Amino acid sequence: MRIGVLISGRGSNLKALIDACEEPGFRGRIALVISNRPGAAGLAVAEAAGIPTAVIDHKEFSTRETFDAELHRALTKAGVELVCNAGFMRILSDGFVEKWRDRQLNIHPSLLPAFKGLHVHQRALDAGVKITGCTVHFVRPEMDEGPIVAQAAVPVLPGDTAETLSQRVLEAEHKLYPLALKLVVEERARVVDENVRIDYDGATVGGPLFVPAG
Ligand code: GRF
Repeated sequence: MRIGVLISGRGSNLKALIDACEEPGFRGRIALVISNRPGAAGLAVAEAAGIPTAVIDHKEFSTRETFDAELHRALTKAGVELVCNAGFMRILSDGFVEKWRDRQLNIHPSLLPAFKGLHVHQRALDAGVKITGCTVHFVRPEMDEGPIVAQAAVPVLPGDTAETLSQRVLEAEHKLYPLALKLVVEERARVVDENVRIDYDGATVGGPLFVPAG
């Protein structure tokens, strides 16, 4: 399966996906990495792995729709079949999301549906939760919504700051995204009636896949 990855920044999840695709027998490979920010560090991560990159700078487009149309054009030209958002900080138009329905994944650093949007770790600390985590889900037009493929739990520890907590969650993200991607490229995770069903050990079970803390 040909995968396109959308990034805006550092690219550490992109790196985790690149490493997963290099595992023997992995049934997907990254055909293109697109950044909406020209200086994104993740572009160098892709280039170091010999993966084609493109910059589609949203500032050069007067509307969200024209930017999204260019994204779509680049992805289809590269033969992409599945899109992975990995720290991609743009809201996509409904039209784009519908074109990639059930063929676009996102990772979010909380246990959705809790803490959608930005400043997730500070909000988790402010709310006093003892467990947070990360979620990989199929993308829907509403931000941080859509059928959940997999979640990992991460403890909030005494003395945590948004920085220390984000680092702990990020480590979990780097394990969870490859796991979820593997299920999707092997077509073992499927959307049925807006829930993910997972083929596991010869049976089909209700998703999401859950990775406990620790
Ligand atoms: C990650 O925490 C991801 O969950 C969020 O943005 C961050 C991106 O980090 N959507 P990176 O660019 O993958 O290092």
